[in-house]
Amino acid sequence: MIEEGNWFGEVKDFLTDEERVSIREQVLEMKDKWRPIYPSDHLFGPVRDILEKLAHAGLGFYHLGYAVYIMKCSRMPAEKAHDEIYDELMVRFEWLFERVCSIVEKETGVPTELHGITTPGFHISTVPFDIKGAADLHEDFSIIKYVDGVDVDSIISLIAVIEEPEGGAWLEWQHPSGDLKRYDYNLNSLHAWRGKLFHRVGDYQTKLGEHRITLQCHYYFDKERGVNRVYF
Ligand SMILES: [Fe+2]
Repeated sequence: MIEEGNWFGEVKDFLTDEERVSIREQVLEMKDKWRPIYPSDHLFGPVRDILEKLAHAGLGFYHLGYAVYIMKCSRMPAEKAHDEIYDELMVRFEWLFERVCSIVEKETGVPTELHGITTPGFHISTVPFDIKGAADLHEDFSIIKYVDGVDVDSIISLIAVIEEPEGGAWLEWQHPSGDLKRYDYNLNSLHAWRGKLFHRVGDYQTKLGEHRITLQCHYYFDKERGVNRVYF
């Protein structure tokens, strides 16, 4: 998935234009299942209040599906993620999640399956002002709160852009030297980065009616079973 010595990898033609448009439509159809999220777990007080009001008015950041890092913040037991929208996501997008597995399997030569703790999911943003440095720089290690024995060096993060705002979509990442850098996403590609890379969503702004929608997943290598396991 990612060549030795590199931080990033890309598989082109992961989706067709038609598939991407269809996924977008279905994500929008599930709008009543989107859940607001906030740029920082540590953000409380008046700024948080304003962001909550905007999110309820349809201008904010949302998740569709349960990311392990949201389960962690809300202290949600892992089983709960199965109750709510798991079935609907599987009905609509199982083909997509299975495609992620088959690409990871092909790229790594290791059998790859959906984890079962969560399905992959989506980030959706509708924020009509410039979002700059809004999220914390972080590593994608949340799974270790739920699963024992995960080798963090094996965690890989995956993303595919489903809708990008006019200015494009990209990741901000921190080079080990400390410099902040930009990694641009290409439409219809599946992009990968190492989970131990410090990163956050790149700056963006959506106009009214635009969204920034991404398919989000991760996988790690389960040493005991000899398989890669894909989750949100
Ligand atoms: Fe992340």
